[in-house]
Amino acid sequence: MLKIAHRGAKAYEPENTLQAFQKALELNSDGIELDVHISADEHIIVMHDETIDKMTNGKGDINTYTLSELKSFLVAGKFQIPTLNEVFDLVDKKCFINVELKNADTSKNVVSLIEKYITEKGWNYEHFIISSFDWNALKEVQKLNPNIPIGVLTEEDLDMALAFAETIKAKAIHPDFQLLNKEKVLQIQEKGFLVFPWTVNSEEDIQKVKSYNVNGIISDNPDKI
Ligand code: G3P
Ligand code: CA
Repeated sequence: MLKIAHRGAKAYEPENTLQAFQKALELNSDGIELDVHISADEHIIVMHDETIDKMTNGKGDINTYTLSELKSFLVAGKFQIPTLNEVFDLVDKKCFINVELKNADTSKNVVSLIEKYITEKGWNYEHFIISSFDWNALKEVQKLNPNIPIGVLTEEDLDMALAFAETIKAKAIHPDFQLLNKEKVLQIQEKGFLVFPWTVNSEEDIQKVKSYNVNGIISDNPDKI
């Protein structure tokens, strides 16, 4: 049962910051999940929303700012917004990284960065899984590099997600945990996919989802898994 820290260990540090990912490592997470957008000068920015409004002292869309402008804003009054390569360097192969593409326009840059870490820094494909609710973004990833593991995110139709996962030879289905029961998990696994549900936080939900024999759980508090 893999422990995957949602947006870093979001229960303990501001989400999607280097501090949250460091905390996830300290909690012995098997993987971290994070979200990405692209800056005006094409750097891959780790943040959940497409604006900086919720997390920083600034306002506006991430894709209207350059990296140096984004670095001038503060998260929780003290942390900088990280880039994806800064997170890769922090993690340094200590766990796998689930990169969630929030938009299709990040596919090319994320694939290139993963390829760079594999060819130049000794990482391998098992260190990565790319997921998205935007299935066109996943098609693009598969076209660019079919070796990169893919997770199909869904919050509604499990059957459609399964059918799509077959067409792109995905590694995993990432469903809202409320879509699952034991039979559905088995059905997905019998088709050859891993099951990584999100976002499972309470003790009660964690125990319930564990009893379905999923392959991993994405949680704000991975230490509770
Ligand atoms: O990847 C699972 C989960 O993170 C998807 O929802 O809104 O937290 O990005 P969200
Ligand atoms: Ca996410």
